[in-house]
Amino acid sequence: MKVGGSLRVPGDKSISHRSLILGALAEGDSRVTSILESADVKSTAGVLRALGVDVPPIGADFVVRGTGRRGLRQPLAQLDAGNSGTTTRLMAGVVAALPIAATFVGDASLSRRPMRRVARPLEAMGARFDLPAHGGLPMTVHGGSLHDIEWTSEVASAQVKSAILLAALASGVRARVIEPERTRDHTERMLAARGATLSVDGSTVTLDANSPLTPLDTRVPGDPSSAAFFAGLAAIARGGELRLEGVCMNDTRTGFFRTLRAMGARVDEENQRVEGGEPVADVIVAPRALRAAVVTREDVPAMVDELPLLACLATRAEGETRITGANELRVKESDRITAVVDNLRAIGADAEELQDGMVIRGSDRPLRGRILTHADHRLAMAFGILGAAEGNAIEVDDPSCVEVSYPGFWSDLERVTAAV
Ligand code: S3P
Repeated sequence: MKVGGSLRVPGDKSISHRSLILGALAEGDSRVTSILESADVKSTAGVLRALGVDVPPIGADFVVRGTGRRGLRQPLAQLDAGNSGTTTRLMAGVVAALPIAATFVGDASLSRRPMRRVARPLEAMGARFDLPAHGGLPMTVHGGSLHDIEWTSEVASAQVKSAILLAALASGVRARVIEPERTRDHTERMLAARGATLSVDGSTVTLDANSPLTPLDTRVPGDPSSAAFFAGLAAIARGGELRLEGVCMNDTRTGFFRTLRAMGARVDEENQRVEGGEPVADVIVAPRALRAAVVTREDVPAMVDELPLLACLATRAEGETRITGANELRVKESDRITAVVDNLRAIGADAEELQDGMVIRGSDRPLRGRILTHADHRLAMAFGILGAAEGNAIEVDDPSCVEVSYPGFWSDLERVTAAV
């Protein structure tokens, strides 16, 4: 398989969610262009509409008519977050700051995911939560007037950090969040760009009380987590090169590109620029013989969503790839440690599960068989990329689950491999 041509991957998922939520919380119109039009982002739009916000059908270019926290009201029905952890956790922060009660529901995968990580800090601020014994959904949030908080988070999670910051913003109190490792900082960047008074010191973020928030237009850059799949494809191709245009290169997100480069692939950046407060570049990737990688706890947050893909690529690299300190993978859309290792073994790869990660030994033997996605979009795409490599034949049981973050994935895969 050779690759060729150029590709503009869809808008960044994290920034897309936040552009809607911050647009709703500001008073005035915020235009959003190039948003990710996927199921997860539609879940956030739907939850905001259920709370009374005027969010038109999302498309290439539209306007959110923000009316501030006064514009949000008691929903008449449950808030359906679909498959989206970001929708649930960030919006739980917003609801906690309002004088309303709302129940979040979601699909089977989301309903199993841990919500106490946001409930605990938001309760410490003064909200009240009803959670089932397993700590997932349905989750009812009883909001109210909140107080200042200083929270030391046990998990490195941008969703937890953002839930606290949004609760503080919407209720006018002060929040300080201390993380074990620095996580993606889109909320901080977007708040600062909208006039909020916030300071960042290493992995500590402080938002002042009564922080202002002005409306602002957002142009959503390409999602590095989506671009990663095609960078990985180009790295294991037999020849050619692929140009990925307009990718967000925020260093809290680009751990995968750094690792791919360290494995020996050619990964170049051109046209580096700043768009909407985020570093953006065109990324050009070409194949080389790959060496194994080592990923440890500090590396994980900047590539947390790319680890299933990295594990798949490691089967084509020389040597033993070791991923540790990645317990968070167990509580994503699926248990991504067990699911990735089981699937790798099912297609004939040499992989082993660790409590907090996995070990993969590379070879050039063809990999064949059927993999189970467990309705996890990133597993479908990671194995889709591995299946496109020379000699491999991998059937994905549920290709349609890519709708969550990258609806055009399969046609883009066809296009960049057919172009040569
Ligand atoms: C996200 C944060 C990460 C990531 C998810 C999106 C966000 O989750 O895995 O896809 O937009 O804040 P955690 O906060 O659970 O690490």
